[in-house]
Amino acid sequence: MKRKITIAIDGFSSTGKSTIAKQLAKQLGYIYVDTGAMYRAVTLYAMQQNIIDEYHFDVDKLIANLDKIKLNFLYNEKLGFAEMFLNDKNVENEIRGMSVSKLVSKIATVSEVRKKLVSLQKKMGKDKGIVMDGRDIGTVVFKDAELKLFMTASPEKRATRRYKELLDRGDDVSYEEILKNVQYRDHIDSTRKDSPLKKAKDAINFDNSSMGLEEQFERIYNFAKEIIEK
Ligand code: DC
Repeated sequence: MKRKITIAIDGFSSTGKSTIAKQLAKQLGYIYVDTGAMYRAVTLYAMQQNIIDEYHFDVDKLIANLDKIKLNFLYNEKLGFAEMFLNDKNVENEIRGMSVSKLVSKIATVSEVRKKLVSLQKKMGKDKGIVMDGRDIGTVVFKDAELKLFMTASPEKRATRRYKELLDRGDDVSYEEILKNVQYRDHIDSTRKDSPLKKAKDAINFDNSSMGLEEQFERIYNFAKEIIEK
């Protein structure tokens, strides 16, 4: 039997991490975990409980309520990936909208939130055979991952991708609003005190600004195959 490895994919928002990670997991027969979805689900909970909005954020109330937040991934056979459930409700669609995107970086600065989510993520990956994407997977969650990738692309390229995604969902958004959100999140994600987004020393830098999906997948799949067969 082939040995199972851990694959950590980090990078800025909308660099196409999840598309590649999903494809890779499918090809290898691995579990795929989108950790951004977990931070997004906590954000949705905080919005529903009036803990956060554009103008205020009651951090203490969020910390006091963390035990009430139950997060699960349930595999959807039709879609071919696991959907995010918050307190037993499917929130996969709700967490992808702009209202959550605007607030999620603030939620992700809270150490108590990170501690809870990192602990869940470590449990999910204890048997290896996992592809996990996020911001701190190679630096915090799986420091010993056999394959680490750090994905980058220009903010404009990423905003264009995100704009198309949201238009496809039928959301009413402007390109400028999205570019601003991408740049704002880059800033908060990479300057926060706890687990800022940065490239792990042993991660492969992967700039996909001018690379199609097929080429990206082939290259990354080859990195993984090489390590698995070593
Ligand atoms: O990957 P995404 O855009 O869905 O992530 C949403 C936010 O969650 C992102 O702005 C930063 C935060 N995040 C994080 O801090 N750590 C992770 N491992 C994943 C996401």
